[in-house]
Amino acid sequence: MTGAQQGNSTSELAIEARGLSRRFGDVVAVSGLDLQVPKGMVYGFLGPNGSGKSTTIRLLCGLLLPSAGSARVLGHEVPGDAERLKHKIGYMTQRFSLYEDMTVLENLDFIARIYGLSRALRRARISDALQQYGLGELQHHFAGTLSGGQRQRLSLAAATLHRPQLLLLDEPTSAVDPQSRRDFWDALFALVEQGTTILVSTHYMDEAERCHRLAILDRGVLVADGAPLQLMADMDCAVVLVESSVPRKVQRALAAQETVRSITQLGMRQRVLVPHTVGRPAEHVRGLLLAVGIEAQCDDTAPSLEDVFVAVTQASRSEKAA
Ligand SMILES: Nc1ncnc2c1ncn2[C@@H]1O[C@H](COP(=O)(O)OP(=O)(O)OP(=O)(O)O)[C@@H](O)[C@H]1O
Ligand SMILES: [Mg+2]
Repeated sequence: MTGAQQGNSTSELAIEARGLSRRFGDVVAVSGLDLQVPKGMVYGFLGPNGSGKSTTIRLLCGLLLPSAGSARVLGHEVPGDAERLKHKIGYMTQRFSLYEDMTVLENLDFIARIYGLSRALRRARISDALQQYGLGELQHHFAGTLSGGQRQRLSLAAATLHRPQLLLLDEPTSAVDPQSRRDFWDALFALVEQGTTILVSTHYMDEAERCHRLAILDRGVLVADGAPLQLMADMDCAVVLVESSVPRKVQRALAAQETVRSITQLGMRQRVLVPHTVGRPAEHVRGLLLAVGIEAQCDDTAPSLEDVFVAVTQASRSEKAA
């Protein structure tokens, strides 16, 4: 049985948040968040800038106090019991937070000491980490001289030295090239195989698709959660691919239409989201264009995760505006 399958039992939750909220003055960064993260999963956090991903992660680590609500993380109440949780979790911050004027080796040794690892354990774990994360040749380099991808690997190595049961990774691969991102995700799945639960925020749709489950936040509110395929199947919009010789005209003509939720241009084509309630989506869009004298090829197409993201975040906006 895989870790993800084991995680289906509700008694096997790594994280359970109940009404978790956090304000900063007038800004409600996280609002009444109910979240369940089963053990042994890679659980993704998606959301526009400022939607509350980092704040939620910091609340779950016990680094921030909630304004309301609470969470149970690996059996510990947060914020009450956060001190004992510290040794069971690894947290990778959104910005590089290791010491730039210390070498790779010195950084790892420093973190290992913070976690109170014995000398023998420090030596063994650091040696493993250098090998596993391809940092051996860089061990005497200052962290400040590493490339973006090398820094991410060092941060992950540091966050896993004490073998945490739960890893909270805040945009761990931002500004990293595609191959390095793939390598990084291979390393994450290797950790999952060993029983680690991972909560990871990302803006990359290809990464989101690799998660067992996803939560999508918008303005501090959970607007969708589920397995990526399920989220695509449950989408309340249909996707129409429009191809024409006048894509900018198509864009302007459709932008004004009430039934058009969003339009994204891809070269000469457009992805158009319309609610299922319009009936036959491709014919509906073709009709809208014909009415303003534009002939275009319109075809129904399967939704992508990016379509889901756009649909749920825009829906929550229009509900708020209404
Ligand atoms: N320490 C703070 N003081 C005041 N406001 C804050 C603080 N931290 C976060 N916020 C606000 O809370 C909201 C949520 O921010 P948060 O950093 O959690 O978003 P995010 O989803 O991680 O965004 P991004 O994708 O840009 O990293 C934003 O409006 C932000 O300005
Ligand atoms: Mg953030």
